[in-house]
Amino acid sequence: MTKSFSFLSKKGGVGKTTFCLNCAHALAFSKFRTLLVDMDGQANLTRHLFKGGVPAGLPDVSTALLRRCAPKEAILTTGYDNLDLLAGSTTLDDLPILDPRLMREPARFKLILQELAEDYDFILVDCPPIVNWLTRMVLFAVQGVIVPIQAEPYALQGLQDLVPMLDKLTATAQLHKIVVNMYRSNTQLHQNILREIVEAFPGRLAKQTVRQTIQLAEAARAGLSIFEYAPSSIGALDLYALCFELFELSPEQVKANVLARAEATAQPPAEAPLIEESPV
Ligand SMILES: Nc1ncnc2c1ncn2[C@@H]1O[C@H](COP(=O)(O)OP(=O)(O)OP(=O)(O)O)[C@@H](O)[C@H]1O
Ligand SMILES: [Mg+2]
Repeated sequence: MTKSFSFLSKKGGVGKTTFCLNCAHALAFSKFRTLLVDMDGQANLTRHLFKGGVPAGLPDVSTALLRRCAPKEAILTTGYDNLDLLAGSTTLDDLPILDPRLMREPARFKLILQELAEDYDFILVDCPPIVNWLTRMVLFAVQGVIVPIQAEPYALQGLQDLVPMLDKLTATAQLHKIVVNMYRSNTQLHQNILREIVEAFPGRLAKQTVRQTIQLAEAARAGLSIFEYAPSSIGALDLYALCFELFELSPEQVKANVLARAEATAQPPAEAPLIEESPV
């Protein structure tokens, strides 16, 4: 069954796009068929995969939301095996004007994902730093919400606003995990903030934190995943481990998936040439 997650927080710059993109790369490297959906009008995720944005004329997620094309027609290939994209664009911000009915039809995005689900093992949705009708639409469509936070003094307050709201929503999505990003374990402040979050939200904080490292920002600037840019960096190690924890993967499961995919995509052996029996 397809697993779908969104990366959401009301705060900007906490790592939603970084986590979404790098987790998708880690899944795709492990041969899981992965779809990225960019639901942020800033389209950072899309610009990362298509430098300068999607070429004019190609559809994106808003085209599908406006029902101007079928969901499958809006899928873009990224050039990476097992990694496709439903792109985002600034049109996402104009949707309420382009089709005011959309705001009263939160199931429209869910219908899109349902139509695409059979082709993917994982669907990861990047969200803007706001909870509005568009992100609520995402919450109606995905199974789990991953909330990245930065270990800073107002992080707990932000979670105290967001988590009860997620728990109260009668949407499909459940809070999956809170993940601390840009963590510096050698500071008393970060250690204390982490402890406060564990106490306030028992069982909801991912064990794996992602440490602050300039290579993650450099990779983003280079338009690469951290696994391509600096595969043995702490950023790559933390994000790979995070991916295993978030998606409850084990090395055995990944190995089994790689083998199953190799089998599923193998070409049938060419027909053996006929060898004429030699007359004896
Ligand atoms: N662990 C990290 N160490 C260093 N830099 C990081 C780390 N995580 C993310 N960054 C950098 O921080 C910046 C913000 O990250 P990102 O764009 O992922 O945040 P966001 O939550 O998606 O922001 P927005 O709310 O604007 O969409 C980016 O330049 C990214 O490369
Ligand atoms: Mg972002």
